[in-house]
Amino acid sequence: MSKNYKRTLVTCALPYANGPVHIGHLAGVYVPADIYVRYLRMRGEDVLYVCGSDEHGVPITIKARAQGVSPQDIVDRYHRIIKDSFSGLGINFDIYSRTTSDVHERNASEFFRKLYTEGKFITKESEQYYDPEAKTFLADRYIVGTCPKCGAEGAYGDQCEKCGSTLSPEELIDPKSKLSGAVPVKKKTTHWYLPLDRYEKWLSEWILDGHKEWRSNVYGQCKSWIDGGLQPRAVSRDLDWGVPVPVEGAEGKVLYVWFDAPIGYISNTQELLPQSWEKWWKSEDTRLVHFIGKDNIVFHCIVFPSMLKAYGDGYILPDNVPANEFLNLEGDKISTSRNWAVWAHEYLEDFPGKADVMRYVLTANAPETKDNDFSWKDFQTRNNSELVAIFGNFVNRAIVLTHKYFEGVVPAAGELEDIDRETLAQILPLRKSLEDNISQFHFREALKDAMGIARVGNKYISDAEPWKVAKTDMARCATILNVSLQICADLAIAFEPFTPFAAEKLRKMLGVSLCAGTDHRKGEQETVNTYREGEGSALHTVPASCCGEAAAKCPDCSCGDSSVCLEWDNLGAESLLPAGHRLGEAELLFAKIEDEAIAAQLDRLARIKAEREAAEAAAAAEEAAKRIEPQKDPVSFDDFGRMDIRTATVLEAERVPKTDKLLKLTIDTGIDQRTIVSGIAEYYSPEEMVGKQICILANLEPRKIRGIESKGMILMAKQGDGKMRFITPAEALVNGAVIG
Ligand code: 2FM
Ligand code: ZN
Repeated sequence: MSKNYKRTLVTCALPYANGPVHIGHLAGVYVPADIYVRYLRMRGEDVLYVCGSDEHGVPITIKARAQGVSPQDIVDRYHRIIKDSFSGLGINFDIYSRTTSDVHERNASEFFRKLYTEGKFITKESEQYYDPEAKTFLADRYIVGTCPKCGAEGAYGDQCEKCGSTLSPEELIDPKSKLSGAVPVKKKTTHWYLPLDRYEKWLSEWILDGHKEWRSNVYGQCKSWIDGGLQPRAVSRDLDWGVPVPVEGAEGKVLYVWFDAPIGYISNTQELLPQSWEKWWKSEDTRLVHFIGKDNIVFHCIVFPSMLKAYGDGYILPDNVPANEFLNLEGDKISTSRNWAVWAHEYLEDFPGKADVMRYVLTANAPETKDNDFSWKDFQTRNNSELVAIFGNFVNRAIVLTHKYFEGVVPAAGELEDIDRETLAQILPLRKSLEDNISQFHFREALKDAMGIARVGNKYISDAEPWKVAKTDMARCATILNVSLQICADLAIAFEPFTPFAAEKLRKMLGVSLCAGTDHRKGEQETVNTYREGEGSALHTVPASCCGEAAAKCPDCSCGDSSVCLEWDNLGAESLLPAGHRLGEAELLFAKIEDEAIAAQLDRLARIKAEREAAEAAAAAEEAAKRIEPQKDPVSFDDFGRMDIRTATVLEAERVPKTDKLLKLTIDTGIDQRTIVSGIAEYYSPEEMVGKQICILANLEPRKIRGIESKGMILMAKQGDGKMRFITPAEALVNGAVIG
């Protein structure tokens, strides 16, 4: 954080409502953002957390067309699924709206109109692909053809999904319209462009000189865009789905989805806070942080800031844009179109009550500096060997033993021994490291620090062995459990950003209830707002675990101490849980994940892979079949005339022993009966050949094949994929009829 801000506005990339969200989205954007927001709130900071569905763009129209429904049907369906998935994972935005909202349509229109009126755009006429049958311009995604880089069929006009190359429609070989299959033609059209070149110097100063602290992947991408020279970018499209371009003469044109989507952040803030939204967008006291994936960097660091700069009016720019790299699945690129993904909503159904496990695994493997891999085996190991065996095991032992020996009441500690002091001394450095890591967006490392606290606790209780000590020295056992319970309370704080459901369960086990009126996330999932206009923001932006002002009293307990306050600043504090405080019921914090559950997921993926490979093989064979051999060199009529081609009938057929391909056929040629050995066993069984009328080259020189004299050749037609069929006259003729 480069200066003292009063509040933080956190935005998450608006996911396209053309499909559900998958673990790649979660790991790249939403889980880290949520950790960050929860952490800031634990610290009592004023935070607004904004997201929503991105409901425009060509992929949505393609999906709608493919399913024979309207784009609105598609976005309605996926908006709901995505929104529920986020809730299920504990990712509770203050607002999750949509770019089809009225507020947004008005806002985006007004944004365009102001830039248009002030002459901030240029117009350009260009030739673009047009479908003469569907009578419409074709967005890049609507044009498919052969990839010029890898030769794959079905590459899109903007990208080849096979090799990942970025393409332009002009580069495609044999381009075809996805709408009608027609060959697209070039047609003139006019669009508005934001002349990014005008902002190049300013961007260079703002980012390249001013934000050297940004992640190297983000800074590097910005540098290469800026150094490469920025070009004007079209901000409108010929399309019928989107925000209409609000100027005369723009019929059939809409705002380019990447022009309207980022304005969605502003619209959604405005929808939530119609009176005070400007405080979040136009005050130098607000710190703006965009969480995005690496494919969004140029839009959030170059295009949107240039739009805001062009607009003026005091809009703030992002202070940081922590973009992640990509997550792979079982070694393969996650792909919506290939169904190679773990879908958030399916995960939540398959693993009820395990949202935290996915949050934990995705953070432990977060693709922060390079692409990373998710595997189900790793998922199981991290759950069973880390969450269950370390964190859960420690908490369970501490709480169960307290119930066993001290009736569930925190025992008073006696004089501390070295092991106690050394153990407790490890907590604050871990907290410090965790804080440093989170503030630098190093969530993987921050999670290691939180887990480090659990490891410290687990080692302590294993080494101190209170269950053995209890047999001889109850006072010492009390001290060990007191120390252990303090560490449990530390864990309830440290894990709130990472595994909020477990943190809540742990608070319950520790008998720390929530302060009335602050747990907004417990409300109806429809209205998950934690920020309410007109109410003091401090009250509503502090963590659910504690109001920070009136510390939680333990309701069922007579300890009477009101200082059980699990706010961040108390992490590592002495006697967080006072002696005499009554704990809640012991429960298992995490449950083991069995092999069968993992096998079911791996089977599902194996099925998808097998289906895909079969489909790809079939498509490749279909393509190969269409491959036509080039014509051979010319032959003279005389040459052709020397070939004696005739009709004949197969009388007998048998396989040539010890071969896969050869059939020995006895043929009635009309002239004689003879033997022909033919390599057609792959395509025909002997039984299929008997009785068939075929065509033969009768005067081919006899030759010995596998010791059998073959006199002539059966004429076969062969496709590009090698498939062969014999030739037969259109109707039965006598044997020996001359073909020519
Ligand atoms: O890449 C995406 O999923 C885009 N829908 C992100 C948009 S972010 C913002 F600008 F709205
Ligand atoms: Zn390719």
